[in-house]
Amino acid sequence: DRSIKIAPSILAADFANFGQEIEAVEAQGADWIHVDVMDGHFVPNITFGPQTCSAIRPHIKSVMDVHLMIAPVDPYIEAFAEAGANFITAHLESGPHIHRTLQAIRGAGAKAGLALNPATPVEDVAYLLDMVDLVCIMTVNPGFGGQKFIHSQVEKTRKLRDLIGDRPIHIEIDGGVDPTTAPLVAAAGADVLVAGSAVFKGGSVQNPAPYGDNIAAI
Ligand code: DX5
Ligand code: ZN
Repeated sequence: DRSIKIAPSILAADFANFGQEIEAVEAQGADWIHVDVMDGHFVPNITFGPQTCSAIRPHIKSVMDVHLMIAPVDPYIEAFAEAGANFITAHLESGPHIHRTLQAIRGAGAKAGLALNPATPVEDVAYLLDMVDLVCIMTVNPGFGGQKFIHSQVEKTRKLRDLIGDRPIHIEIDGGVDPTTAPLVAAAGADVLVAGSAVFKGGSVQNPAPYGDNIAAI
């Protein structure tokens, strides 16, 4: 299914109200829920781990899309799969054995995602395409929400679309997606658009109306 899917990132939500925030964005049109896990080592920021993922899982009706910005990854795959992640995405840059990591993700029963930092050449995915269900192009340096979209990644997205061809692999874009940048990456062949600040800005659990408007604008 190549239709455009919007995946709000709860990194920009109210951390004390994940359950309600998730239910609000899903009720207003979110297709997937994107969950950013950061370890303060692979990226310079810390969020949460598998226990939080388990706690929010019952609030997600759609797809739980877990983006691991951690190193090492392998010791934690089983825990995130058990927490109910549908997709587990690991970074190509997170260790020397990404091939093994992707095998382990599928082995744990989840769909396997592969994320590429902005400096990583898109050709690096060539020998991994039969092992992935999703490739995530980072359009910011991972670690924080609210950063500026890196425009060089639009060409990279187009090249990735050519490499993938007709394989059933999602192309996900993560970072700086808003109503201005979303059409650029959609035209380049992406089908899953992660959006944190563009969805949650101006919203609150008490007044969630802007979420739907923001999703519609993307
Ligand atoms: C960045 C995260 C993103 C982030 C996107 O490291 O992987 O998912 O939440 O946030 P925005 O949409 O604000 O750039
Ligand atoms: Zn992310």
